[in-house]
This record gives sequence, structure tokens and C-alpha cells, in this order.
Amino acid sequence: MSFRVAEFYSGIGGMHFALKKANIDSQVVRAFDINTVANDVYKHNFPNIPVMQRSIEALPMTMFEALRADLWTMSPPCQPYTRQGLQRGSEDTRAKSFLFIIELLAKLQKKPKYLLVENVAGFEKSDTRAVFLRQLVRVGYRFEEYLLNPLQLCYPNSRTRYYLLAKLDAEPRECSDDEEFPAHFKHAVPGADLIAPASNSDGHVDFEKGIWHHDEVRQVKQFLQELTKDEAAPYRLSQKVLEKHGYVHDVVTPEDRRTCCFTKGYTHYAEGTGSILQLEGVVGTDEMTLENTRYFTPREVANLMGFPEDFSLPAGTTIKQGYRLLGNSLSVSVVSVLMDYLVRRM
Ligand SMILES: C[S@@+](CC[C@H](N)C(=O)[O-])C[C@H]1O[C@@H](n2cnc3c(N)ncnc32)[C@H](O)[C@@H]1O
Repeated sequence: MSFRVAEFYSGIGGMHFALKKANIDSQVVRAFDINTVANDVYKHNFPNIPVMQRSIEALPMTMFEALRADLWTMSPPCQPYTRQGLQRGSEDTRAKSFLFIIELLAKLQKKPKYLLVENVAGFEKSDTRAVFLRQLVRVGYRFEEYLLNPLQLCYPNSRTRYYLLAKLDAEPRECSDDEEFPAHFKHAVPGADLIAPASNSDGHVDFEKGIWHHDEVRQVKQFLQELTKDEAAPYRLSQKVLEKHGYVHDVVTPEDRRTCCFTKGYTHYAEGTGSILQLEGVVGTDEMTLENTRYFTPREVANLMGFPEDFSLPAGTTIKQGYRLLGNSLSVSVVSVLMDYLVRRM
């Protein structure tokens, strides 16, 4: 196989699953991540791929050269850029490894032809984005930036994310440290069938209001497991949580065509970490009870994020670990559409 891929910040392999989904004849030559639990999941799903458990910024230049990869996929840590966080951007120590990669791009003898970066919405306003784009211009990458949501692909799950695609086919040019880049973020991928989001009068793009009553978006029930009473038991909300936090949860039914973004804090915090499922009755009218309400299972969250049926968590992974890893991962479906475009048409 000639098309070589290096997967940085590989986690549980969202990028690798997206490559497969996009049917790109390729070989992941190495995956990189410091998280041992994530690496176990990666190796469980891709036993033949070498996974390097070292901080990216501690690796020698020769190692990057030796990869001879055509595509580098990267989902660097998002904490420096999340809206809920301090938004310290490049000042945050967790941005260090990505800044290291940005610097490295100028030094490599053989640069990857393609780059694909995924991060949270918020990254597009950061100083790291500006540093990155300046480097791409200096090195000779042509790039496109996107803000996309899996709702646009009819998945009933909201997860707005920033994506950058880059191809090494531009003339390198000088670029000062003050150069700014316009906020041109695309919401449509050439050649792909995505629902357009709604734009408010102030230009603010609203994926959720605009799409989640759309008839084409699939119903939540298509992504659910059939669980026996015993199987469902670990996913029940406790009486205490129902009474104390029931009203702040985002509640959906199997007939709905939406769920909120599942984050790594799902089930740990009630608000803003993902939806809960009311299996019977009408939300807000019928009472939420221990019998008719539960959390989505990690398998269901994976389904909503576009992971294939053959994805699995190794025996021994706790439910909490499953939520944490999936919450950190990505929409396989959205990324596969972007990869298809990047490699075949951009
Ligand atoms: C947003 S997650 C990416 C998840 C991945 N795309 C997936 O599908 O699961 C960021 C990942 O970067 C890893 N990471 C953070 N800092 C790192 C570093 N300095 N070197 C290598 N990996 C790092 C974390 O362990 C985490 O798994």
C-alpha cells in the first residue's frame, strides 16, 4: 500500500476508523498517544498498528522523518480552546505538543502532502490557529477551514467541531508574525451531501435549531441497543440524581432526532455533557422514573458518533472510561467525508 498515514493524538482511533469509512487504500504507519487506556483500546481495534506511547514533543526529528507519511492526522488536546475553559490558547501547557509540530513542519526534509486537524469550536478564535496558519503559508500548504456538525449528515447528534485540511501544493511565501487570517469557515464540503445550517441575522451559524427538526435526520431509536432489564441496570440514573438534577438534564426520546454532544464528563456532570434517554412517555409531561429513564450506553454514543459495528472496547474497560474516551474522540462520519475530499478532490 502506498498511501502512508501517521495518526497523532490517536486516542481510540477515530481518525483511523474515518480513513476506513472513506475507503482510502492506506496504511497507518504509526499512532501516537500518551494515554495508556486509549492506547489499549486502539491496539484492541487495530492490533497490527504500532502505537507510540510518548509525548509527541519529546520525540526526535529523525522519528518524524522516518515515518515518510503522506497524511498526518491530528486532534490535539482541546482544553486550551474550550469555551468552558480558561481559553489560554498557546499559553496553556497542553498546547505545547501541537506548537512543537507546527515548528517541526518548517524543518522537515520531506513534509507530509496532506494534513487534517480536528479541534473544538473555539480553536478558530485562538492564537494557536494564527500561529499554525502563518506556518502553513510559509511552508507552502494551501488550506481550508471548516466548522461542521454531524447533524448535517443526518446523525441525531450535535458536535460542532473545527477542521482544517491542508495540501502541500502552494508556493511558500513570507508571512509576518502579525498577519491575521479572515474567519472564513466553510459549512459545506465539495461533493458531499450535507444539510446547510441556519444563519441568524448577525451571521451566527446555528446547526442545532436549523437542523434538528429536519425530517431527514435519523431518529435516535436507530442508534439504540436493545437492553434487558439487567443489562440496562448500570445505565439507570439514581433516584437522587433524578430528583436533584432531573430538570437540568437534556432529555430525549427514541423518536427524537437529536442528542447533545457527549463529552468526557458524561454521567459525571448533569448539565451540558450529553443527553439522557426517556424510553416511554412525553418529555416534560410524563414523569421521569427509574424505570423509564437511562443514560446512553458507550456503544450507543459510539453509534451516534459514526463508529462502525466492529469497533469495541476491550473487556475490562469501565463504563466511565468508555464515556471519557468517546467524549474525547470525534465524529467518524464527518471526518470520513473530509478525508474523502482532502485526498481525492481538494
Ligand atoms: C482530543 S483527544 C484525541 C482523540 C482521538 N482523535 C480519538 O479518536 O480518540 C487528544 C489526545 O491527545 C493525547 N495527548 C495529549 N497530549 C499529548 C502529547 N503531548 N503527546 C501525545 N499525545 C497527547 C491525549 O491522551 C488524547 O488521547
